[in-house]
Amino acid sequence: MKTVAINGYGTIGKRVADAVAAQDDMKVIGVSKTRPNYEARTAVEEKGYPLYIGIPEREQLFKDAGIEIAGTVEDMIQEADVVVDCTPGSIGPQNLEMYKKAGVKAIYQGGEDHELTGLSFNAISNYDDSYGADYTRVVSCNTTGLTRTLSTIDPIADIKKVRAVMVRRGSDPSEVKKGPINAIVPNPPKVPSHHGPDVKTVMKGIDVTTMALLVPTTLMHQHNIMVEINNDVETEEIVEALEKRSRVIVVSAEEGLGSTAELMEYAKELGRNRNDLYEIPVWRESINVVGNELFYMQAVHQESDVIPENIDAIRALLEMESDNEKSIAKTNKAMGIL
Ligand SMILES: NC(=O)c1ccc[n+]([C@@H]2O[C@H](COP(=O)([O-])OP(=O)(O)OC[C@H]3O[C@@H](n4cnc5c(N)ncnc54)[C@H](OP(=O)(O)O)[C@@H]3O)[C@@H](O)[C@H]2O)c1
Repeated sequence: MKTVAINGYGTIGKRVADAVAAQDDMKVIGVSKTRPNYEARTAVEEKGYPLYIGIPEREQLFKDAGIEIAGTVEDMIQEADVVVDCTPGSIGPQNLEMYKKAGVKAIYQGGEDHELTGLSFNAISNYDDSYGADYTRVVSCNTTGLTRTLSTIDPIADIKKVRAVMVRRGSDPSEVKKGPINAIVPNPPKVPSHHGPDVKTVMKGIDVTTMALLVPTTLMHQHNIMVEINNDVETEEIVEALEKRSRVIVVSAEEGLGSTAELMEYAKELGRNRNDLYEIPVWRESINVVGNELFYMQAVHQESDVIPENIDAIRALLEMESDNEKSIAKTNKAMGIL
């Protein structure tokens, strides 16, 4: 049984913790917080995770709140085979020094730069690159979404180039101080956005250029993807390939799943933990091959699509499973992923 520490227990960290706890070959040995809020309390009192503090000077605040702590993050990582770093982007570099000192492997999230680890991860496209490595980075939610579908399409269509416009959620549902509330914001306002280069870190050599904007929604991102292809393929062959690929689902507007709101309702129907939708839904009606171009639209549940990727990254780093599809299948089964 491998031991996993989760540094940072926010949107991503709390989901990674539950996903680790659902596996039979790894266990959570601790999670960390810097503030004694409701998440800290539920981590300890409802989930039973040992709680460590990211800022040792705040110990008294946790004591005053009556929340039991097991020690500092430095204590937590001593016991771990691997740390999943889910702190906000940019804290990574200082944490890396700490992980190196403790001799513990680490997995970062998409808010950090690829250069921090020199290695990025997606379970379908480049699992082997991180096998046995000391550090890797699970690419962002948007990059994960693009990579899952593009790496499914490439083997049959032979992608020449990709152009994508990404409509991004303004904030996560709990972030009350972020926006926009009433605007469409080119974000970043320059072209290309960072997402295209990020896909190249896990799909070597792909020609992909992206543009992105923020809109006033918290539910999901939405992608509009145009792919120039070399092979002569039928629309139905693309649909079949996407249907066969786990962690991708082909959904139909005609069946009532015509929006991100309905997709989130679907996740509730599936009875998912936190109503999460780990799969990338692709709208069947949007998939269309016209000459040498393929068009499709998909959505991304930003809070959850990267969670199973983190579990597979743990298996790759710790050399627990050499076959990526076996790791994917094991993770999927434990988390009820389609
Ligand atoms: N949210 C998304 O949609 C999403 C999707 C994919 C990837 N990501 C990436 O995942 C990473 C985490 O994002 P998130 O959305 O989960 O952030 P978040 O909700 O803000 O959570 C960050 C967590 O890190 C803790 N933390 C803050 N400073 C810390 C420190 N110095 N040491 C230890 N812990 C510290 C916070 O604790 P306190 O709350 O106690 O301060 C909080 O638990 C980022 O790289 C982000 O880009 C996010």
